Amino acid sequence: MALGSNAMRVIFLLAMVVCAAHAGKPAPKEKEKGKDEKSGGAAAEAPSGSAGGSGSSDISKLGAKGDGKTDSTKALNDAWAAACGKEGAQTLMIPKGDYLAGPLNFTGPCKGSVTIQLDGNLLGTTDLSQYKGNWIEIEHVDNLVITGKGTLDGQGKQVWDNNKCAQKYDCKILPNSLVLDYVNNGTVSGITLLNAKFFHMNIFQCKDMTIKDVTVTAPGDSPNTDGIHIGDSSKVTITGTTIGVGDDCISIGPGSTGINVTGVTCGPGHGISVGSLGRYKDEKDVTDINVKDCTLKKTSNGVRIKSYEDAACVVTASKLHYENIAMEDVANPIIIDMKYCPNKICSAKGDSKVTVKDVTFKNITGTSSTPEAVSLLCSDKIPCSGVTMDNIKVEYKGTNNKTMAVCNNAKGSATGCLKELACL
Ligand SMILES: *[C@@H]1O[C@H](CO)[C@@H](O)[C@H](O)[C@H]1NC(C)=O
Ligand SMILES: *[C@@H]1O[C@H](CO)[C@@H](O)[C@H](O)[C@H]1NC(C)=O
Ligand SMILES: *[C@@H]1O[C@H](CO)[C@@H](O)[C@H](O)[C@H]1NC(C)=O
Ligand SMILES: *[C@@H]1O[C@H](CO)[C@@H](O)[C@H](O)[C@H]1NC(C)=O
Ligand SMILES: *[C@@H]1O[C@H](CO)[C@@H](O)[C@H](O)[C@H]1NC(C)=O
Repeated sequence: MALGSNAMRVIFLLAMVVCAAHAGKPAPKEKEKGKDEKSGGAAAEAPSGSAGGSGSSDISKLGAKGDGKTDSTKALNDAWAAACGKEGAQTLMIPKGDYLAGPLNFTGPCKGSVTIQLDGNLLGTTDLSQYKGNWIEIEHVDNLVITGKGTLDGQGKQVWDNNKCAQKYDCKILPNSLVLDYVNNGTVSGITLLNAKFFHMNIFQCKDMTIKDVTVTAPGDSPNTDGIHIGDSSKVTITGTTIGVGDDCISIGPGSTGINVTGVTCGPGHGISVGSLGRYKDEKDVTDINVKDCTLKKTSNGVRIKSYEDAACVVTASKLHYENIAMEDVANPIIIDMKYCPNKICSAKGDSKVTVKDVTFKNITGTSSTPEAVSLLCSDKIPCSGVTMDNIKVEYKGTNNKTMAVCNNAKGSATGCLKELACL
């Protein structure tokens, strides 16, 4: 992952400022048609005998067409406005079909609680000029549920060539698919996220979130298509989820606390990462991270903690716990990289201000596709401390070399590990 959520917010906010500055003349108002033909207003169906006043807004009754080519953006935004504007338990229904959609602005606060029932597929338009920021942006919403067997298809294949982030530090960021900002008590379950233009899911400033039984899929060589990125959020659980993408399957950025990842399968991808830390000035600490019962298949990293070599802030990552992790052919199964510097964009050398402490690796088994199964590359100035390795048995698969561990500036203890790996 080359960019943090902060950068994306800054760029998004900048975009909004620019838009506001250009908003001297208001956008022409859309002719309202189709929408009000049936009942006077939104297509809300009065539900039968629900005391709390629940209801639903079905996009197919608001002009959306599931033919894969009719632009259904307005129907979706209208359905959100209808669902969000009513008290009680409201459902935004996306029935079976393929719905083409541009940017969706699902902003709260809502009067009641909203469930987005995704039975069909949303296809993100590939006309980049339509996006100011992200694709599906859900902000300031409490008690949100997104569920169903449908797919959020970013159709990234057609625009990945526009991603120049490997060449340029301040590159233009393509739209993320599903962005959850300032959401409290949210659940995303059952759905598939496919071929995002940039990140598949970005969780920022959220609390009490559950991501469950979700599938995230993009080719292993697609640029910056991180699966799920979490930043400045607390109490997030990701469980029973299968992720195969072109960047980190899960990345846990600055300001994340109380994050539990269990039963996740990752591959292809860059693994399950904490970081990158230290890119921006005002980052908050990362603490209480548990990664348990996960499988990594043919990924470039397994479990990774990364911080910029030229960190711009003082920040600490602590209480990180990794347990029962199976590695299949992973290039760097266990890696702490405090000299992270993608594309050689760092300005200073070895002057990390990032502290990594109290890290437990327990029962991590399987195979490594490179000899270095364990790499603890900590900084000279601030060594990693309190690192525990317990029952680490990851073996190099090849025959031309032996399994090894490289530990620099790491302090802690090892028990029950392969003897080649007990470098602490
Ligand atoms: C999204 O909708 C909210 C509320 O309707 C509005 O305040 C905000 O400016 C919109 N954002 C964008 C990017 O259009
Ligand atoms: C969380 O959201 C769900 C779904 O809207 C709701 O049923 C539940 O009561 C909420 N929990 C809390 C503690 O508000
Ligand atoms: C995460 O797991 C830890 C350890 O099992 C547990 O104490 C904590 O309550 C869990 N947090 C959440 C948000 O579920
Ligand atoms: C170690 O982890 C593997 C999964 O990677 C699990 O099958 C096994 O039961 C765990 N062993 C112990 C002793 O918990
Ligand atoms: C074995 O792997 C290490 C670390 O990758 C490398 O430095 C070394 O040259 C390799 N040895 C052989 C014989 O390939």
